[in-house]
Amino acid sequence: MSAVLRMEHVQVTFTSGWGRRRARVRAMRDVSLLVEAGRTLGVVGESGSGKSTTGAVALGLRRPDSGLVEVLGRPAARRDRARRGRVQAVLQHPQWSLNPRRRVGVLVREPLAVAEPGLGRDEQRDRVARILEQVGLDAAAAGRYPHELSGGQRQRVSVARALITEPAFVVFDEPVSALDVSVQLQILELIRELQAAHGFGALFISHDLGAVRRVADTIAVMRLGEVLESAPAAEFFDRPVHEYSRRLLAAF
Ligand SMILES: Nc1ncnc2c1ncn2[C@@H]1O[C@H](COP(=O)(O)OP(=O)(O)OP(=O)(O)O)[C@@H](O)[C@H]1O
Ligand SMILES: [Mg+2]
Repeated sequence: MSAVLRMEHVQVTFTSGWGRRRARVRAMRDVSLLVEAGRTLGVVGESGSGKSTTGAVALGLRRPDSGLVEVLGRPAARRDRARRGRVQAVLQHPQWSLNPRRRVGVLVREPLAVAEPGLGRDEQRDRVARILEQVGLDAAAAGRYPHELSGGQRQRVSVARALITEPAFVVFDEPVSALDVSVQLQILELIRELQAAHGFGALFISHDLGAVRRVADTIAVMRLGEVLESAPAAEFFDRPVHEYSRRLLAAF
């Protein structure tokens, strides 16, 4: 079994405020997680439980205070040339990650140009056309600007940007939370389909158990920076072990 993400005993503590207001938040307490190649680990938990911090650590955007983080078999690092395009992210608000002055075709091509600078123009154009089709956008979308798209279409663009480089590992942090429920279902379905076609491993972060249920093979429940429970999805939904997980499920 090969892992695309391995975290062992990861700790992250934030300090905020000054003087007497100075406070320490333990955002990750001894977190151990595993994402297997081609599989999805769903991380669920209430606001502030440390989900996004976990995602940032997995992406090499935040260094943990202690613990081991291995991505694609190597220590996580912010700039790792060898891993360019192999690790990607899809975040909650596509309007913030999409440059409003660039057309969709350019936005989708950018990560490819960075990951594979040697690629010819025709090849780039083909890859852009192919991924746009795979995420369910018509060819005309390439000429539009982000503000000319719906929220769901913008999130399809984000997914296309992430997948065009054919990553082995993708972090999704609340990718559907800003969308209407019916559009959420479409995007979750799309993520599932694309994973079957492309075979990437995924860390799928959401506060919404319903969303996680649709995509995850394994579930980890976080609370106050800790992983309370992790189990194969079927097992988790059938008989959650932890009292808190049972409450989450009852509310859902
Ligand atoms: N840059 C930071 N500086 C100080 N504290 C932070 C910082 N980032 C996160 N925190 C704190 O760390 C804890 C975990 O935050 P995190 O964003 O990981 O939670 P989350 O589970 O993603 O929450 P949400 O569901 O609201 O996105 C919170 O208490 C948060 O306030
Ligand atoms: Mg978050």
